[in-house]
Amino acid sequence: MLEKISALTEEVSNVKVSSKEELESFRLKYLSKKGLVSELMEEFRTVPPEQKRELGQKLNSLKVFINDKYNELKDNLSSGSASDFAGIDLTRTATQFPVGSRHPISIIKNDIVRIFSDMGFTVVEGPEIEDDWHVFSSLNFPADHPARDMQDTFFISRNPLDVLLRTHTSSVQTRTMERNQPPIRIICPGRVYRNEAISARAHCFFHQVEGLYIDKNVSFADLRQVLLNFAQEMFGPETKIRLRPSYFPFTEPSAELDISCDICGGKGCPFCKETGWVEILGCGMVDPNVLEACGIDSSVYSGYAFGMGIERITNLKYKVKDLRMFSENDVRFLAEFESAR
Ligand code: DAH
Repeated sequence: MLEKISALTEEVSNVKVSSKEELESFRLKYLSKKGLVSELMEEFRTVPPEQKRELGQKLNSLKVFINDKYNELKDNLSSGSASDFAGIDLTRTATQFPVGSRHPISIIKNDIVRIFSDMGFTVVEGPEIEDDWHVFSSLNFPADHPARDMQDTFFISRNPLDVLLRTHTSSVQTRTMERNQPPIRIICPGRVYRNEAISARAHCFFHQVEGLYIDKNVSFADLRQVLLNFAQEMFGPETKIRLRPSYFPFTEPSAELDISCDICGGKGCPFCKETGWVEILGCGMVDPNVLEACGIDSSVYSGYAFGMGIERITNLKYKVKDLRMFSENDVRFLAEFESAR
């Protein structure tokens, strides 16, 4: 029996097949119920008990070996032979599945994030349900500031603590400064809420991106350069900017940034109300009171902040006239934008 086993091993290791039929003959000859392996198994029953151990092991190895050989022959056959693909056109393009388009607000948000990431800003997000401290008090809003009014802010509860929907992403500034010491260089995209009647020009929720840079010796000139770079990346290299003095409780000095109107190139048209300029964001140097409220030493550090509405930038890019389009999910509108593929 030992000889039979080694003869079979020898024989099987030399087998080659070149068709499915030959592969099947191999299986029938060695591995089927009436094959040579089963025959040896039958014979094994009759060997004297003292040889059973050695022969049993050998016989098992033979079985494994032939099984492996069979699988190897099968794999070799199926990888490669052209006849297997007869009737299948491998050059045909695969079936296209319809994929939705990206929402215009997401497209512009991603662009803004990319432009500022390239300048070293990291993305930070914060909660939409906030408290009075993070949205107003820490940002130097006086107790009687109109923005705190019920008319602007959605309050969730007023006792014992004010819980509200954030009216701007500036709250993420506070949250970040409370937890980190400078240098801080972040942008914070997110949704904000205001108690406005819904119309073509106003909505009760919209999106903002907040920017904040705090370090030693940060100046207004740094702010201007970063905003110029942003405007030109977003609206094209010819874009001009101008800063107009303004007021925000959390910055001093404060400004609003206008860009040259890209419809008329600055000559004046109905879109820019004949001024040649359109406003895109608010900005300024972070008020020392805000730094101190967040535990940052204002005698050592300074910084700038800015905040923009994503809908506003999107409108300028895509000339969407009615803000409500952004939240109505009309697929005819959405399909006009870049595919998400
Ligand atoms: N939070 C302001 C708003 O909602 C926007 C803004 C203005 C943010 C000036 C700033 C800033 O960080 O410096 O209208």
